[in-house]
Amino acid sequence: MSLITRRIFMAASAASTATLAAPALAQANFPSRPVSMVIPFAAGGPTDTVGRLIAQAMSTDLGQPVVVENVGGAGGTLGAQRVANARPDGHTVLLHHIGMATIPTLYRRLAYDAINGFETIGLVTEVPMTLIARRNIEATNLAELVALIRQRGEALNYANAGIGAASHLCGLLLMKAVDTRMTTVPYRGTGPAMNDIVAGTVDLMCDQTTNTTEQIRAGTVRAFAVTTPERIGALPDLPTAAQAGLPGFEVSVWHGLYAPRATPAPIVARLNQALVKALQDEGIARRFADLGTAPVPVARATPQAHREFWQADIAKWRPLIQAAGQFAD
Ligand code: MLT
Repeated sequence: MSLITRRIFMAASAASTATLAAPALAQANFPSRPVSMVIPFAAGGPTDTVGRLIAQAMSTDLGQPVVVENVGGAGGTLGAQRVANARPDGHTVLLHHIGMATIPTLYRRLAYDAINGFETIGLVTEVPMTLIARRNIEATNLAELVALIRQRGEALNYANAGIGAASHLCGLLLMKAVDTRMTTVPYRGTGPAMNDIVAGTVDLMCDQTTNTTEQIRAGTVRAFAVTTPERIGALPDLPTAAQAGLPGFEVSVWHGLYAPRATPAPIVARLNQALVKALQDEGIARRFADLGTAPVPVARATPQAHREFWQADIAKWRPLIQAAGQFAD
């Protein structure tokens, strides 16, 4: 082999070794810069509350800031799209909720793959929902509220965070249970919507306890029921929907963490490790408990358990949404 050929061969083999080594090196150095956690709703809402608590704890374990980025709009699909289209290097993750199970059926023309566009990192928490209204609404209990909805129908304004949001889903279940439609007022998140409920400019909303508990305790809104089978310790005086006369009106909002599809498994594993550490943080458990929720057990916080749960929920909601015949596009 001539000297020139040998040098070309050695350069080529060095380059290929470097190429092969690059991903392994990137994985070994992960995270090499701050991680962006996309929250697909406006700041100040329940998803944002969960996300910021988890992000802060993950930052400690990862040794890099996990920076929350609120990308609201279109029922959480704009934020999900941002992450689905991000580089699969672990530095962009999505904290989203039950909307990941309803969006694949509700939205038929998305600019991203709502099912195959993500790697699951782990489940985070399940949050009860509460039915609340402006504090001067003309009803003092759920039976009176149901009568008011049936009487006034579309003259009542129902706030949500867009089609596909948990607040939208809960509203669908409520209107089905009461067999009456109301006028829906969409927001970029239920954080801004709560401001209008407190101001009395919008009538009612169904939202997660991570956003409503403190307002209910402060008396700035009127609460009618919690949408779980049993009462919750954070709001012991609030009846379940069944106890208040509306059986079957049950929904709780699960949250999970995702990375773009094709994010290398070692990076997903490292992100999962930081998530599990966050879920075991006593301060987070206390804050979650105060807001009516709790971290999921570690056994549910694996990528595989998350994916299986998510796929099952997509299958559960698909026929219900198709039967309702209401789609986002
Ligand atoms: C929803 O309604 O789906 C979200 O909880 C809204 C939000 O987090 O702002």
